[in-house]
Amino acid sequence: LASTHTALGKGADDLERLWRSLGLDRAGTVVALGGGTTTDLAGFAAATYMRGVEWVAVPTTLVGQVDAAIGGKTAIDLPEAKNLVGAFHWPARTVIDPALLATLQASERANGMAEVVKTGLLAGEALWEFADEELVRRCAAYKAALCLRDPHDLGPRHALNLGHTFGHALEAASGYELPHGRAVALGLLAALRLSGRDTAPVVDVLSPEPVRVDRDRAWEALLRDKKGRLRIVLLGAGGAREEELPEAEVRAALDALISG
Ligand SMILES: NC(=O)c1ccc[n+]([C@@H]2O[C@H](COP(=O)([O-])OP(=O)(O)OC[C@H]3O[C@@H](n4cnc5c(N)ncnc54)[C@H](O)[C@@H]3O)[C@@H](O)[C@H]2O)c1
Ligand SMILES: [Zn+2]
Repeated sequence: LASTHTALGKGADDLERLWRSLGLDRAGTVVALGGGTTTDLAGFAAATYMRGVEWVAVPTTLVGQVDAAIGGKTAIDLPEAKNLVGAFHWPARTVIDPALLATLQASERANGMAEVVKTGLLAGEALWEFADEELVRRCAAYKAALCLRDPHDLGPRHALNLGHTFGHALEAASGYELPHGRAVALGLLAALRLSGRDTAPVVDVLSPEPVRVDRDRAWEALLRDKKGRLRIVLLGAGGAREEELPEAEVRAALDALISG
């Protein structure tokens, strides 16, 4: 165990500070206690320190408990892009206590609920209706099972991008002012509309509000993210599938999320 780090971010400077303060030998274990920012940073530090030491994730946010601390992805942000440098490095174990969520701010809880609704849509179950303990258990189990089937993100795990192509574009167009959960809520709305599905779960649970961002900037961000091919995760009767959609259809769906 070694952590006296009070993480503010997950930049290269935070990583260097953490590396230099670890003082572990190769048999040591890094314990990451915190939200996704902390587990991403500490997990990547563990992946790289002495060519890799073990780590344990103890996520303390809803995002962390249902998403960030599950699946073995670790990363830091660079000024050029978020999560640009990282590694697949599964924690030796992930310890989750939903009681920790009691102190979360409403805005942080909302970020997590967007991922809970995404997971429920993928699982075909109203997971958002459960109380925290069961909700976290089921969401974490769903993501873990999917990631174990596809540890290096080469196939089935793409389903987890549901709503995220649109969400990332809106976040980028807002200069990252828009919280991830609000962006994903809007992204899920677009994905359900394009899938011809009922949008009620997203509307009722996440109350997405159109955002005021520059439409061209959002579109350019989406194209950059997709590197030319407009493959979007849609939700069918049998679960998620990726489909290449016509540009006009994708652009119209994005525009509908933007006000003004
Ligand atoms: N590795 C992955 O697969 C993955 C998946 C999703 C997100 N992420 C990453 O996770 C990060 C976002 O994580 P996050 O949403 O948990 O945010 P965060 O870690 O930045 O935490 C948000 C805020 O909540 C506070 N906080 C943490 N636990 C608390 C508690 N129990 N009570 C009160 N306050 C608490 C933190 O101090 C912080 O101010 C992003 O960097 C994102 O890229 C990674
Ligand atoms: Zn997300």
